[in-house]
This record gives sequence, C-alpha cells and structure tokens, in this order.
Amino acid sequence: MNKTNPPSSNFEIQRILTGLSDISFNEHTILVTGGSGFLGSWMCEVLLQKGAEVICLDNYASGRPDNTDHLKNHPKFTRIVHDISKPYDPGRKVDLVCHLASRASPLEFDHYPIQILKSNTLGTMNALGIARKYEAMLLFTSTSEIYGEAAIFPTPETYRGNVNTLGIRGCYDEAKRAGEAFCMAYHRQHGLDVRIARIFNTYGPRMRSDGHYGRVIPRFIDQAVHDAPITIFGDGKQTRSFCYVTDQITGLLRLAGVPGLAGEAVNIGNPVEWTILDLAKLIIELTGSDSELSYLPMPPDDPTRRMPDIIKAKEKLGWEPEIKLRDGLKRMMNEEI
Ligand SMILES: NC(=O)c1ccc[n+]([C@@H]2O[C@H](COP(=O)([O-])OP(=O)(O)OC[C@H]3O[C@@H](n4cnc5c(N)ncnc54)[C@H](O)[C@@H]3O)[C@@H](O)[C@H]2O)c1
Repeated sequence: MNKTNPPSSNFEIQRILTGLSDISFNEHTILVTGGSGFLGSWMCEVLLQKGAEVICLDNYASGRPDNTDHLKNHPKFTRIVHDISKPYDPGRKVDLVCHLASRASPLEFDHYPIQILKSNTLGTMNALGIARKYEAMLLFTSTSEIYGEAAIFPTPETYRGNVNTLGIRGCYDEAKRAGEAFCMAYHRQHGLDVRIARIFNTYGPRMRSDGHYGRVIPRFIDQAVHDAPITIFGDGKQTRSFCYVTDQITGLLRLAGVPGLAGEAVNIGNPVEWTILDLAKLIIELTGSDSELSYLPMPPDDPTRRMPDIIKAKEKLGWEPEIKLRDGLKRMMNEEI
C-alpha cells in the first residue's frame, strides 16, 4: 500500500489556482529543473493550467517519471532527461527558470553529498546562465536549512545562519547558501531578476515514502499504515513547521509572479510549530495505527527548532498558509477534508 502518492487531485490544483488568480503565466515558456520531483511536478501541472509552456528537466535522481506521466501528452509540456550540474541550453526563449533540482532528504546527505553540492552550485550557475541568455527571471528554491541551528524564532530572512560547514549536513546547507550567493552575483553583475524562496518543511501527495528518501511525514505515515514502529530521532522534542504542498506552490509562484521582487529572499513555510513526538502521535491517531514509538539516536547537527517568520511573505506576496497539519495529512492519506 502506498498511501502517500494518490493521483493528481483537483482539490490541490484548484486550491493553488485560487491563490494565483491575480497572477498570469499565460504564454510564458517556463523551465522547471527538478520538474518530476515532489514540488516540481505540482509546479509544472499548475503552470500548464495557467496557460504556460513548460519544459520539465530532471535526471530522476530522487524524482520519478510517474509524477509527471499524467502530463506527458499535454501539447505544451516537454520532458528532458538531463543533469543540470552539466550545461544545458533549451534552444528557445524562456521567460522563467524555476530551479528546483536537488536531492533534499537528510538520508541522501550521507550518500550523495557531491551530487547535492553540484546541483545547487554548478546547477544553479547553469540555470542562471540560461536565464541570462534568454533574459528570463530565475526562481531559486533555497531552504530553511541555510539558517542551520538558528538562534531566533520565528526566524526572519535577516538571520544569517549558524551552519556547520564540516558536518554531514554541510553539503546541503552550504550548497544552498552558495546557490543564493550565485543568484545575488548574477543579479548584481548582470542585472538578472532573481528571487530566492527559503522553503520550510513541506509535505503532501507525491512525496516519496521509500527508504531511500525518508522524509519525516511520509516515513511516519508509511510506518503507521504498516503498524511498524515509528522511528523518532532523539527524544522527539525537536520541532518542525509543516507546510502543505498547495500553500507552498502558491507561495513559490506568487514569489515568481508578483512584480518588483528582484533580488529578494522570502521564507515560505507554515509558522505553526510541531514537536516530532506530537507529529508521530497525530499520524498514529489519523491512521488508527497500532504502531509503537521507537527512539533512535539523534543524527549530528539535526536542528532543534524550525519556525519561519512569514511577515515578509505576507507583506510582499500577499500570501500565508491556509491548510492545517491535520487536514493536510488527511489529504495526503487520500481522505477528504
Ligand atoms: N520539500 C521540502 O520540504 C523542501 C524544503 C526546503 C527546500 N526544498 C527544495 O525544493 C526543491 C524541490 O524539493 P522536493 O521536495 O520536490 O524534492 P524532490 O527530491 O522530490 O525533487 C527534486 C527533483 O530534482 C531532481 N534532481 C536532483 N538533482 C538533479 C540534477 N542534478 N539535475 C536534474 N534534476 C535533478 C530529482 O530527480 C527530483 O525530481 C529542492 O531544491 C529542495 O532543496 C524542499
């Protein structure tokens, strides 16, 4: 049973389209790197609905063709298999490059640190090069992880971070920091319109639940539906703030679509903080599972708290998240809310 990958859902798409009703991507040609991943596939689907021509580039490192198989016969949709850390030229005018390509799961930091570094440094440089050549805007998906073990909560964009360059997470955290610096360098030196989204934990349908990926929500759901022990790192008192995919994609595309935001970095996430322990209990309740809790050692440098300050997103994007965790989890488990 795979409860985390229902087919494309009208509810999700309609919800995002409602949040983008004042934004037009009609007749735009948009390159989405990482377009067959969790967030990228929702982004491609919504952009097609908004009348855009979409080029989805992915090397299937962590994404899956199934995420975009339902789009492949759409006349305005093209899929390219390519590693963005190597140069790429779409060979036609693009108006927007959305650079999402990167493995993003903590379990992958151990196995693929060089790929992760390359996707966010060389890959970002290549994506910026495309944007420069075709005079396009670039949206870079950065992360809350650039804040490292943060000292201010809720964490605003002005916080500069507390990251261990030598630690196991350095390949991801520092790569995203370098990616942001690449964006700002192209913005300053070449006048490129770049926008940086600092994404906080996001969940929803199409997230992979298998062991190679293992982000916390799909892992807990998978364990719960199999009545297997729910594996909690540390004492479970560490917190995360979970944003449902519809809210996230709306925020990302508002950041790309609202005028006047060149060179801005904006937190996109849900500010409601949950302990991992309470998350596990909620998933057990919602699935009616007999799973017990199993405690594992805390991985090194795992952040203690995550909570975005979203004042800037509210002010600049006219955006805030709407879906409560309980409701988003039910959606992800394929139930109506
Ligand atoms: N989902 C989250 O909670 C979250 C949080 C913070 C940041 N982000 C960022 O958002 C982006 C998308 O994340 P996601 O959750 O959809 O992850 P994902 O793994 O589902 O998607 C990433 C996609 O990029 C592809 N990819 C990886 N390296 C590539 C390369 N070198 N060339 C081409 N394609 C490549 C993968 O195959 C995958 O389809 C990532 O950049 C990630 O760092 C996500």
